Amino acid sequence: INVAVFASGTGSNFEAIMEAGDLSCNIVLLICDNPGATVIQKAEKYQVPTFVFRSKDYVSKEEYEKVLVEKLKEANISWVFLAGYMRIIGPTLLEAYEGKIINIHPSLLPDFPGKDAIGQAYHARVKTTGVTVHYVDAGIDTGPIIAQEEIEVKENDTLESLEEKIHHVEHQLYPRVMKDIVKK
Ligand code: GRF
Repeated sequence: INVAVFASGTGSNFEAIMEAGDLSCNIVLLICDNPGATVIQKAEKYQVPTFVFRSKDYVSKEEYEKVLVEKLKEANISWVFLAGYMRIIGPTLLEAYEGKIINIHPSLLPDFPGKDAIGQAYHARVKTTGVTVHYVDAGIDTGPIIAQEEIEVKENDTLESLEEKIHHVEHQLYPRVMKDIVKK
């Protein structure tokens, strides 16, 4: 079973996936929309082939997503896991990989969708936040939920300490969910 990871930035989730051991699938492609992203060096380290593009080199989302679908098909990809991919998935990709695109989001959805979810939750002073893995649909962080893990926000937590706790949970949860779901 071949899997592609999409990422735009640091790639700590990508790295956690690569370090997780038996995933019941192979990570055979990294797709990245940001030529300056550190995740690209991480893919090199693990010898994962990478396709890097810039959305502004294409006239529309449809045009670059057609190229992405080609790359996915060429690599025989069955599942797509978004790991900090900062673009909304459009109809071209959604139709080509219906029910096969998964995302991880650093809040307890449906609370705090969109950007800076950790900061949103922290500044809202919630006592509990967490991590959600969900199917991707046409909305922003709205698809059916697959797994959630709660994290307590302590009195003495700073934004930084909360971020650290959330990322730690993400790095455990995402590989686990991946292993479960790719068998389906
Ligand atoms: C993670 O917090 C993930 O939940 C969100 O983007 C962040 C990506 O971090 N969608 P990294 O690039 O994996 O370090």
